[in-house]
Amino acid sequence: MASCNTIPAAELISCSSDAGGRAGIPLVGLGTAAFPFAPETTKPAILHAIELGYRHFDTASIYQSEQALGEAIEEALLTGRLHSRSELFITSKLWCTDAHPDRVLPAIRNTLRNLKMEYLDLYLIHWPMCLKPGAAPFPVKAKDILPLDLKSVWEAMEECQRLGLTRSIGVSNFNTTKLQELLHFAKIPPAVNQVEMNPAWQQEKLREFCKGKGIHITAYSPLGGQTNPLRPCPVMDSPVLRDIANSKGKTVAQVSLRWVHEQGVSVVVKSFNKARLKENVQIFGWELSEEDRRKISLIPQSKKVCIEGMLSISPQECELEPHELSEVDVFELE
Ligand SMILES: NC(=O)c1ccc[n+]([C@@H]2O[C@H](COP(=O)([O-])OP(=O)(O)OC[C@H]3O[C@@H](n4cnc5c(N)ncnc54)[C@H](OP(=O)(O)O)[C@@H]3O)[C@@H](O)[C@H]2O)c1
Repeated sequence: MASCNTIPAAELISCSSDAGGRAGIPLVGLGTAAFPFAPETTKPAILHAIELGYRHFDTASIYQSEQALGEAIEEALLTGRLHSRSELFITSKLWCTDAHPDRVLPAIRNTLRNLKMEYLDLYLIHWPMCLKPGAAPFPVKAKDILPLDLKSVWEAMEECQRLGLTRSIGVSNFNTTKLQELLHFAKIPPAVNQVEMNPAWQQEKLREFCKGKGIHITAYSPLGGQTNPLRPCPVMDSPVLRDIANSKGKTVAQVSLRWVHEQGVSVVVKSFNKARLKENVQIFGWELSEEDRRKISLIPQSKKVCIEGMLSISPQECELEPHELSEVDVFELE
C-alpha cells in the first residue's frame, strides 16, 4: 500500500504559510466530480484514498462533493487515519454564478462550512465566465452569461487569501490570453491553473507560458474524463497507449498519468473504485522511454471539456457568436 510519503509534492508561488498547513501541492490528487453526483460512494472512496496515501482532494461547489469530503476527513481524523488537517491539501472552486466581486467571500465561507474547515489550501476561479446570480448553475444557459469583471473578482480572491480563508489562489480553464489579462493587475499572481491535460490534449503552448510565469499546472481529466460507454475515449482507448502499457506491464491509465507527471505538472484523477485508486498512485519509480514519448507526442489531439459542452448543445446549435465563445472558451490554439 502506498503511504503519504510516496506521493511527492511541488512548491507553489504566492502560497501563504500563516495559516499553517502542508508544504506544496501533492503531485497526484483525487478528483471528486461524479456526474450524476454519487454521495453514497464519494465518502467511502475518500476514506480509502486517505488510507492509500492520497493527500490532495479536489472539489468544487458545483460538484456537490464538498460535504462528503468534509465528512470523510472528519471521520479520518476521529479514527486516526489522519493526525491533523494540516496533512492535507484541499482545493475548491468558485462557480460562475458567484463570479461577482460581492459574492466571492460568501461563496468561500459557504464552501468552508460544507467542508467543516477553517481554511482551504487552494481556491480557484472555476471558469473565466460569469453567470447571473441565481441562474441555473448547470447546464449553463447562454442567456445567463454576463461579462466577467476579472479584476474585481480577482481582488476578492486576493482578499480570501489575505483573510487566511485559503492559503493560495488560482484559476481553472484559463488560456494564455486570460492569464495575461489577469497577470496585468494581479497583486497576488495565480499559484495554479487547473486545466484539461492528457496525452490526447497536451497543452504545450499553455504549459510553456505557465512555466515562464511560475504558475503551476494541475491536469484534470488526465484519463480523458468520465467514462462514457457510448463513446470511445481518446486516452483510455488509444492503441498507442495500449501498446506502451503492454510493453511495460502497466495499465493504460498508469501510462497516461505517468506521461502527465513527466511534463512537470500535478494531476487530479477521479476513481471511486478501490483497485483503480491504488493503481492510479503507482506511477512513480519507473519512466517512459524516449520512444514512448515520441509516439505519445503524435497522438491526435481532441479536447473534451468546452463551453459548448457546458451549454449541453451541439456546436452546430450553439447560441453564442464566435467572438462571445472566444471570451469564455478554453481552447488554446497552437
Ligand atoms: N476544473 C475543471 O473545470 C474540471 C473539469 C473536470 C474535472 N475536474 C477535476 O478533475 C478530476 C478528474 O477528472 P475527470 O473526473 O473528468 O476524469 P478522469 O480522472 O480523467 O477520469 C475519470 C474516469 O476514469 C475512470 N477511471 C479512473 N481510474 C481508472 C483506471 N485506473 N482505469 C480505468 N478507468 C479509470 C473513472 O471511473 P471509476 O470511478 O469507476 O474508477 C472515471 O469514469 C475531477 O474529478 C475533478 O475533480 C476539474
